[in-house]
Amino acid sequence: MKVVCHNTDIKMFMTIAAAFAVSIAFVVHYICKSLFFSPLAGIPGPKAFALTKWRLAFEDYKGTLFRHCVYGAGSGFERTTFYNMFSTYGRQNMFSFSSVKQHGDRKKLFAHAYAKSTMLKGETARTIETKVRKFIELLDRERDGRSIDIFPTLHYFSLDNITEFVFGNAGKTACLDGVEKDRALLRDIMATGSRRLTWFTVHRPKFTTWLYSRTGLMGCVARRFYPLQGPIPYTDIKLHAMKAFRIFSNFSTKEKAKQSSLISKLWKHHSTQKEGGLDDLDIASECADHLDGGIDTTSDTLMFAIWSLSRPKHEKFQQRLINEVRNLSEDELNADGIPRAEVASKLEYVDAVIKETLRLFAPLPASQPRSLPKDTTIDGYPIPARTVVSISPYILHRNGNIFRDPLTFNPDRWLDPSQDTAGMNKLFWAFSSGGRMCIGMHLAMAEMTTFLAALYRKYTTEPGDDFGIVSPGITSRFEIFYDESCSGVRVRFT
Ligand code: HEM
Repeated sequence: MKVVCHNTDIKMFMTIAAAFAVSIAFVVHYICKSLFFSPLAGIPGPKAFALTKWRLAFEDYKGTLFRHCVYGAGSGFERTTFYNMFSTYGRQNMFSFSSVKQHGDRKKLFAHAYAKSTMLKGETARTIETKVRKFIELLDRERDGRSIDIFPTLHYFSLDNITEFVFGNAGKTACLDGVEKDRALLRDIMATGSRRLTWFTVHRPKFTTWLYSRTGLMGCVARRFYPLQGPIPYTDIKLHAMKAFRIFSNFSTKEKAKQSSLISKLWKHHSTQKEGGLDDLDIASECADHLDGGIDTTSDTLMFAIWSLSRPKHEKFQQRLINEVRNLSEDELNADGIPRAEVASKLEYVDAVIKETLRLFAPLPASQPRSLPKDTTIDGYPIPARTVVSISPYILHRNGNIFRDPLTFNPDRWLDPSQDTAGMNKLFWAFSSGGRMCIGMHLAMAEMTTFLAALYRKYTTEPGDDFGIVSPGITSRFEIFYDESCSGVRVRFT
């Protein structure tokens, strides 16, 4: 009896030891495969990221991924499924298409609407100049010796510009005129849950869809776990875009033809019969996405520009900017004293300030994922088909080999012949590059140059009351972004 018991113990011990050995072998095999035998094993980088995708997801969760990864990509790359989250009303659009062909076919329908000449002359330029004037009027009205919070006011400026550009009369907002229901759209931007929802959509897509599709009693329970109350970020802005689409589609043919907005250009391809034609939801999705693209990007850049120029140690940069913009002659201004967009676009120092701001505080600082349908080689490393590769402006823009003293805000570097300006321009990647680069770049630049020229013609800026207490911060997708070196947003206009 005793002997049998002993044998059972040995058997059990052997079983546990075998299971343990198999587990260890499995783990060792997995680690060795990931670290040494994977086709990507030779690529430099933190090894924990090669072991599990959850290491990357953890960085995403903290909102700090873009500070840790860098990879390079060649041409012909497509966007990854990551961009599916930018499809709107259930439809893909130019931003979310992955295939080069689908993207190119869509882009050619309206690329001319974004041409530099369109932005600097004609109706779009007049719209931008008018919004700049309204912003200055708002400052005159509301500052009254106090500092004002530039975060919402700059968002009024960008929202009014982009809604008019995309929808014209059918959906332009009037935040700068004080219309409260339009200003309320900014609640979406303040909603902190958007970041968490984006994380769940990217890293747990099936679970997120399941969670939001629960109804009845399960729905009540599920609601407690929602990262954001609605299943999509920017719900009110998406509703506004859909309403504007409906208003436009009800315009008469004559009225539609008179408009010069983006939607009127897309409407020329409205057809459910013709191959390549766009139906209602295609157009609505495209417009909603361009609206999204034009809100935070320009206002956040302007916020960081004003904030940087207001810091006491940067006084000399503000003075150089002021010298340039206050030297404009009467014929370079509109009758209301606002510099003409075309003139502002040629101001060297204004341009250097914007570039330096975008270098340190790119509103989309994070890695932009791409993949190729076939095997390729990057920098001598073999990359199997469909491997996700990405580059991040945040990391490129802090390359100390090219940017002298890379963490220091110094607009002068862009105009200094003793520095490697060709190298700096090559690495400047705030708007991305190639076929998928920002289509709104000239619109954004026209808004920002005209704005800064007009603002510093009239005002100087200095730290406001609680300047230096908290950092200006923005959320880009799920990354949290702020200036690591300092803090504060309120600005006094004198
Ligand atoms: C400072 C301002 C801006 C910056 C820094 C910026 C940056 C970028 C970047 C980096 C991309 C590529 C993103 C990626 O591939 O993941 C992009 C794409 C895009 N941006 Fe901008 N953007 C700005 C303003 C605007 C404005 C004002 C619009 C107005 C419509 C806009 C519309 C778009 C669109 C539609 C795309 C997709 C282009 C495509 O897929 O071909 N952006 N932007």
